[in-house]
Amino acid sequence: MHIHSSIADLRSALKNRGRIVFVPTMGNLHAGHISLMEQARAHGDTVVASIFVNRLQFGPNEDFDKYPRTFQADCDKLAAAGVDVLFAPTEADLYPEPQEYVVEPPAIQHVLDGEFRPGHFRGVATVVLKLFNIVRPDTALFGKKDYQQLMVIRNMTRQLALPIDIIGGETVRAADGLALSSRNGYLSDAERAEAPRLYRLLNEIRAAVRAGETDTVKLEKKAVAELDAAGWKTDYVAIRQQADLSMATGVNAPLVVLAASRLGGTRLIDNIEI
Ligand code: PAF
Repeated sequence: MHIHSSIADLRSALKNRGRIVFVPTMGNLHAGHISLMEQARAHGDTVVASIFVNRLQFGPNEDFDKYPRTFQADCDKLAAAGVDVLFAPTEADLYPEPQEYVVEPPAIQHVLDGEFRPGHFRGVATVVLKLFNIVRPDTALFGKKDYQQLMVIRNMTRQLALPIDIIGGETVRAADGLALSSRNGYLSDAERAEAPRLYRLLNEIRAAVRAGETDTVKLEKKAVAELDAAGWKTDYVAIRQQADLSMATGVNAPLVVLAASRLGGTRLIDNIEI
């Protein structure tokens, strides 16, 4: 695996490499990332991963400084997964001057996670567009665990007519159902034992909707109450339309249930399609 930190070196390394498939990450790789790398192989000739902890998408009181940085272990995993090229820029490589031109997503950036993380999706869309311009992939893969992020990136790619196929990879889970996440490492043993409750509740909601329950607000409130009674601090549990994350009430379209809740100091997000 070849590793490049400079934009110019990466660009020359990617000349004449056939169809490029790209998997951007912030490192601290787990089986969810590796599954995306393995799927990537089927979509092109050269698999490119990136590792960059993007300051722009973290709020002032968020975990940018303590976000786990495990570069050598990540390189070993990427090489073992058959990744051809790793782009690992420093902040000076990617943001040599203040990033004043940004991608401002529409209203979707202010709902659900966006309501609790103002500016987050602006930071994600900006870095992803910049990475797309650097790597120039034919296809890019993102995990469905970040469902709203995937939607923002899909919509941006479509509306800006970027010639890139966006593919969503299924969420990879631990045996007890907890969605794999770089932030799971923050959990104490007791919190880790409690954490699968989130996925269990999402499944209960899915079962209730499939069984014909139409009062989505009641289901959302019940799940929030159960989480909070177990010591979580919940930002939202929301049943939404898959197509655009708009409200689900009274519609007969594919739905998704999404949640974000804090266990101790760790904010976990998860979702399942209904
Ligand atoms: O999902 C992530 O790891 C990040 O949000 C991404 C897409 C790499 C942009 O920094």
